[in-house]
Amino acid sequence: MNQDQMKQAAGEKALDFIKPDTIVGVGTGSTVNYFIDALATMKDSIKGAVSSSEQSTERLKAHGIEVFDLNHVDSLDVYVDGADEITPHMAMIKGGGAALTREKIVAAVAKEFICIADSSKQVDLLGTFPLPVEVIPMARSYVARELVKLGGDPVYRQGVVTDNGNVILDVHNLSITDPKQLENQINAIVGVVTNGLFAERAADKLILGTENGAQVIEN
Ligand code: A5P
Repeated sequence: MNQDQMKQAAGEKALDFIKPDTIVGVGTGSTVNYFIDALATMKDSIKGAVSSSEQSTERLKAHGIEVFDLNHVDSLDVYVDGADEITPHMAMIKGGGAALTREKIVAAVAKEFICIADSSKQVDLLGTFPLPVEVIPMARSYVARELVKLGGDPVYRQGVVTDNGNVILDVHNLSITDPKQLENQINAIVGVVTNGLFAERAADKLILGTENGAQVIEN
């Protein structure tokens, strides 16, 4: 299997965990796109979805899946999303697609976070993938200087504006030995909207696309 086939296998396997008559939390990215396409095959048995990005909303609607405003939804059973890196403790780096803030909000509401990923995303230590940080535009230079003090090398993601109207700094060369601590430390910098560490709210389940098909790993 190539990487795309592994992503597809993981996305399709996630259907096993979708209950009828529920609203499904849907993440963002190429792996999630396979999940959305699979979800369309059971669209008549679910109520609809809450989406973490304009990109996923467009794809869900194109399949005829109703997309609800999160403010009109009291609870979500599951949130299905990809990751850029994931550890054996299920802490993740996310935000390669710049949707990290909405992803973190929907994940916070959901009872269960199901991560879908191909095997290239498994790591022992987070930080080889540059950590995305969403920043209020006027705070960009200040936040970059503060990130340098934490030992990182922030790079402005040119030409990208998030769905929330903000910018992204990708922080290179971080060695993330304590993801929860760093997540909170970066979030405490004035001007940071959120960062792509999902350690305080890690995944509950990982569906990993491998050479031998999709494997389900519980946290
Ligand atoms: C989107 O902002 C990200 O958090 C994605 O979940 C992550 O980048 C994984 O994307 P792929 O499934 O495209 O690898």
